[in-house]
Amino acid sequence: MSKTKRTKKAAGSDNIESMLREDRVFKPSKEFSKQAHIGSMAQYKKLYKRSIDDPEGFWGEQAEKELTWFKPWSKVLQWKAPNAKWFVGGQTNVSVNCLDRFLDSEKANQAAIIWEGEPAAPGIPGEERTLTYRQLHREVCQFANVLKARGIKKGDVVLIYMPMVPEAAVAMLACTRIGAIHSVVFGGFSAQSVADRIQDSQAKMVLTSDGGFRRGGVVPLKENVDNALKIKVKGRFITKSIESVIVLRRTKNKVTMKKGRDFWWHEEQAKASAECKPAKLNSEHPLFILYTSGSTGKPKGILHTTAGYLLGAKLTSKYVFDLKDNDVYWCTADIGWITGHSYVVYGPLANGATTLMYEGAPNWPGPDRFWDLVEKHRVSILYTAPTAIRAFMKWGEEWPRKHDLSSLRLLGTVGEPINPEAWMWYHRVIGGSRCPIVDTWWQTETGGIMISPLPGVTPTKPGTATLPFFGVKPEVVDDNGKAVPKNSGGKLVVRQPWPSMLRGIWGDPKRFVETYWSEVKGNYFTGDGCRQDKDGYFWIVGRIDDVLNVSGHRIGTAEVESALVSHPQVAEAAVVGRPDEIKGQALVAFVTLKGSNKGNKKLLEELRQHVGKEIGPVAKPDNVRFADALPKTRSGKIMRRLLKQIAAGNVEVQGDTSTLEDANVIAQLSKDAS
Ligand code: PRX
Repeated sequence: MSKTKRTKKAAGSDNIESMLREDRVFKPSKEFSKQAHIGSMAQYKKLYKRSIDDPEGFWGEQAEKELTWFKPWSKVLQWKAPNAKWFVGGQTNVSVNCLDRFLDSEKANQAAIIWEGEPAAPGIPGEERTLTYRQLHREVCQFANVLKARGIKKGDVVLIYMPMVPEAAVAMLACTRIGAIHSVVFGGFSAQSVADRIQDSQAKMVLTSDGGFRRGGVVPLKENVDNALKIKVKGRFITKSIESVIVLRRTKNKVTMKKGRDFWWHEEQAKASAECKPAKLNSEHPLFILYTSGSTGKPKGILHTTAGYLLGAKLTSKYVFDLKDNDVYWCTADIGWITGHSYVVYGPLANGATTLMYEGAPNWPGPDRFWDLVEKHRVSILYTAPTAIRAFMKWGEEWPRKHDLSSLRLLGTVGEPINPEAWMWYHRVIGGSRCPIVDTWWQTETGGIMISPLPGVTPTKPGTATLPFFGVKPEVVDDNGKAVPKNSGGKLVVRQPWPSMLRGIWGDPKRFVETYWSEVKGNYFTGDGCRQDKDGYFWIVGRIDDVLNVSGHRIGTAEVESALVSHPQVAEAAVVGRPDEIKGQALVAFVTLKGSNKGNKKLLEELRQHVGKEIGPVAKPDNVRFADALPKTRSGKIMRRLLKQIAAGNVEVQGDTSTLEDANVIAQLSKDAS
């Protein structure tokens, strides 16, 4: 892995040609617009202008209208770049806004969460549970008391490593009830990743399960936690901050329970009172940390705080998904990602909606699992990722065709640019050519959706996230931070603060400034390349740093490289992305070995498994290529641009190779590729 700072590639260069050819426009239907929360372009434009010209006025009004407060704020925004404080002096509580707020209305008995577990085998129905707002409130209060009884106080960090079960949402909401900070770790991450996150956040407690179901198998979550808690560096446990582990019984998996440290969820819950007064939390009280990959080093703990985040999640859910009381809304993301935080849990619940939660894979027990669920629960809004849509396309139209999808009225996508073919397929086959599609651009750091059509308003074009949400001022700029002309590629920045923006990187204020606020001073730098078309629509091209987007998951190449070089036989590693029909990008690792070690199939698989163990299955390279040397500049920097071309199968490497130290390296690598 090269230690030198990597250069960013020319922004916005890759997919523009294909996108420019795309000029189909889809207008919202009159029927949709008539019933939508926002139904005309004039209304959007007026509100948008107000939100940009007078952000404090706009957000102050929204916060008053949308949230329940214990104490009103004295100032809407205190901004000294890069530090924002929203709703200064105000006090609120997220769980109150997602639950208590509805208990005096008929909504109390409406389904808050409909949950389906994964079927054990074809023909066997999955487990099913529904929690009304009242039932969810009760569970949350009880579990908040469990947290307290086990020593968790306001400001403590609780790590959540659970499958997609209602208890995961209960755990998150219980933390918010008492002002504990949750840090959810995706169940697909390894013991090592869990340990790293515990060490970085100094979490006091882990909430986990004896397992989670995935494609008929069991993911051994508790065992991973046990292994994480055993990891030592230089003779010291790196997870010594952990005082207790609470384990949900979910499978028949045998687990070992350590006396005095591990407790069963159901036993703890049974002892707890169902009354728990919510903590009155300052607007800027930390709500959660969520780790995400960057271009260098270990993942960063992105910090979100209470009031601003909640307002962002609530308002975007309401307007982008046009959420209504009678909607059954399904966001297919796992709660381990930001999409699961904002659009499975907080956004829909803050709106009093019914959110569907599903534990398993889209193709288990059959490729029509999603469509089966849509039909069964009469899902009206579906929010998923382009990578899933491309997989559905590949599996064939016959699977969705078997089901009645007429309940759907709105479709959404997130996580990566959607290729126009996938957009059209989604529109035609899933949306029956009648549902608007909202292609939503945002990030872990932004907390909520930033650029997206409003479904009753914005004419859409396949492949663009279109226009900014209220209060968001994005711009495409050059290296000097100057706006570029329409249709030119550049870097995407955000010029003004917004309520759900990240407040920092946990424990690393310096990295926060360097990563997000130094590229264009005083502006938030997204890391994405972009272009604005003649209509002002934003076309996201993809990351311009060394972060890859594999199946909508953000993976830092530096992290994978670190994992590879930690293997005893590896000398150097460089990881690049290669275009992949389903995943968007696939991971290709170029590896040189120490001494006389030779690359072979066995070692290749061993290295893949090693990365799986170090980071998690999501980061396993799709391909490992052994090389005698890596192409480097004379100053020792790995020439990733060339490796990318080789990974993509270009035997004739294009572009300037004059700074290459040893041209033979390329000749050798290209030969291997052919
Ligand atoms: O490159 C952009 C891509 O996903 C990145 C953010 O990843 P993450 O923090 O994991 O959050 C994903 C879910 C919000 C962005 O920098 N991205 C996300 N949505 C889109 C997208 N790229 C193009 N179009 C989108 N709609």
